[in-house]
Amino acid sequence: MPSITYKAPAKVILSGEHAVVYGKPALIIGLGKYIVVTVCESGDSDPQLLEGSKPVIEAVHNYLQKKYPEKELKLPTITVQNDIPLGRGLGSSAAFAAALSGALLHYYLGEEPSKDTINSLAYIAEKHFHGTPSGADNTTCCYGGLIFFRKEFEFLKTISALHAKLPEIIESKLLLIDTGKPEESTMEMVKQVRIFYNANPLKTDEILNKMEKTTKRLVVSVIKEDVNGFCDSLKKNQSMLEELGVVSPRVSQIIEKLQEFGVGKITGAGGKANGSGFILFYAYDKDKTIRYLNNNIIPFIEFTQDFNGVQYQKSS
Ligand code: MEV
Repeated sequence: MPSITYKAPAKVILSGEHAVVYGKPALIIGLGKYIVVTVCESGDSDPQLLEGSKPVIEAVHNYLQKKYPEKELKLPTITVQNDIPLGRGLGSSAAFAAALSGALLHYYLGEEPSKDTINSLAYIAEKHFHGTPSGADNTTCCYGGLIFFRKEFEFLKTISALHAKLPEIIESKLLLIDTGKPEESTMEMVKQVRIFYNANPLKTDEILNKMEKTTKRLVVSVIKEDVNGFCDSLKKNQSMLEELGVVSPRVSQIIEKLQEFGVGKITGAGGKANGSGFILFYAYDKDKTIRYLNNNIIPFIEFTQDFNGVQYQKSS
């Protein structure tokens, strides 16, 4: 079997992180930053990479053992190339789970697996990485584009691909500003919100309901190319995430300081102690904002959308 390569994009949650764990919708988009996983018969895998790959390998092997009990499952060598910043809310683990599931399934079966199969195995691996994830991250890394996602039950998720792209007037103004890797893992942040919910059930329900409205408003803003609606939703989203306690005081201050340049919200699980991962930022004047970020040595990356999700990379 020749080497098999799969590529999967990062993701950005435009609205609804954390609320999506409680059955509220989230609007997520594929990001044009990628992880590329290659599997081949000969060579040695990096032991650390192999250790981190265990939940994905296990998910794929369990699936294949049930379906094809006779099949011999000798582990191929795994190599990875990655340009997704790690552990900062851009879905690096979900992209890895999607790309590796795709590559392994293709390697063992000798044909391209369906995205639905890749997604369900990537979700199993994500549960090992993060405890009780909603499945929104792996779903976006698998399908790409704009995804309206809602987890109704563990066994039923509504995945609606919006047949639209982020309008150019919005996309061209977006930046992703790096506030640093959170000290807490996604699993810890999800747990902290659960603790907050149990201590403040009425207040949290209220925040989650507002979050749902904001996410829906954001969908309409995207479809109608309504920049003001988009910015307003980002702003509201950020203040709700602050209320849920997933933004550190330092990062709230950064967003406040950047107000003269535009509006932003953290994206992903966030972080309370210091870094909160990436801020999704709409810049009124992008060049001016970039000058400010460079002068103040604040790292950022440009935003480009991905439309394809996980993909087999045919060797040329
Ligand atoms: C993490 O990227 C997004 C969260 O909503 C968790 C999840 O959806 O599983 C915080």
